[in-house]
Amino acid sequence: MTAQLIDGAGLAREKLIQLKHVVTSLQARGIQPGLATVQVGDDPASRIYVRNKVKACTEAGVHSTHHDLPASSSEADVLKLLNQLNRDPQVHGIIVQLPVPKHLDARRLSQAIAVAKDVDGFNWQNLGALVEGAPGILPCTPRAAMVMLDHAKIPVEGRHAVVVGRSNIVGKPVALLLIGRGATVTVCNSRTTDLGAVTRQADILVVATGKAGLIRRNMVKPGAAVIDVGINRLTSGKIAGDVVFDEVKEVAGWITPVPGGVGPMTVAMLVENTVNAAARIPA
Ligand code: GUN
Repeated sequence: MTAQLIDGAGLAREKLIQLKHVVTSLQARGIQPGLATVQVGDDPASRIYVRNKVKACTEAGVHSTHHDLPASSSEADVLKLLNQLNRDPQVHGIIVQLPVPKHLDARRLSQAIAVAKDVDGFNWQNLGALVEGAPGILPCTPRAAMVMLDHAKIPVEGRHAVVVGRSNIVGKPVALLLIGRGATVTVCNSRTTDLGAVTRQADILVVATGKAGLIRRNMVKPGAAVIDVGINRLTSGKIAGDVVFDEVKEVAGWITPVPGGVGPMTVAMLVENTVNAAARIPA
């Protein structure tokens, strides 16, 4: 292996310890940060993600309340709960775990969360602030990617960053953060013609497609920083990223593992967004 590992799990643990100190000082001022998680239906992967979020909150001293709604819930049912949570002074952050059942409009639900409590950063006002580089709540996975680059002291300004994936949750916002930091950014996707010709130009390669095994050794420039956002369950039951780790670690300069990379750091960013929301500190 030539690449340096960027240990997301370890970094997340450190971040949660730091946050616990911040929470202690907020508690001394009479503020107990609180996160409300909402899951509609019984998606098993979502259940694991929510459990991890609740566990991370507990580690940092953030109070969390989980709201499980049946898959048959109407949009009005979910909106009613979100409105209650919006008004609840003990709740500083609210997330609706995605995906939601098909009969619900995820976009309308995300927009129903109060801007100041939108700790996923999915609200248009927070996304608009991200476009402008204005203060707002930033989405967790893109922030996790940037914090991991910074921790490894990987230069961003002036470098060519290639983002594979164009989702609203990861691809688009991480491209905006990289642009904000002065990178030259190319956004492509799993269907890009001759994807390897594009990814081989990357000094920083961020991959968020949800396609296991997409990025092979010959698609990576020697020495590049590779941030793998994918979390895919293989037929063997194993979890793997979008990058073929065993191949790419031989050419990359830095690489994030899956599991134990961007995933745990994303959860730590959610806790940080919640603590900042409680302290009313913009990201
Ligand atoms: N489902 C997959 N990623 C996310 C995320 O970052 N936030 C929420 N709420 N749901 C998700």
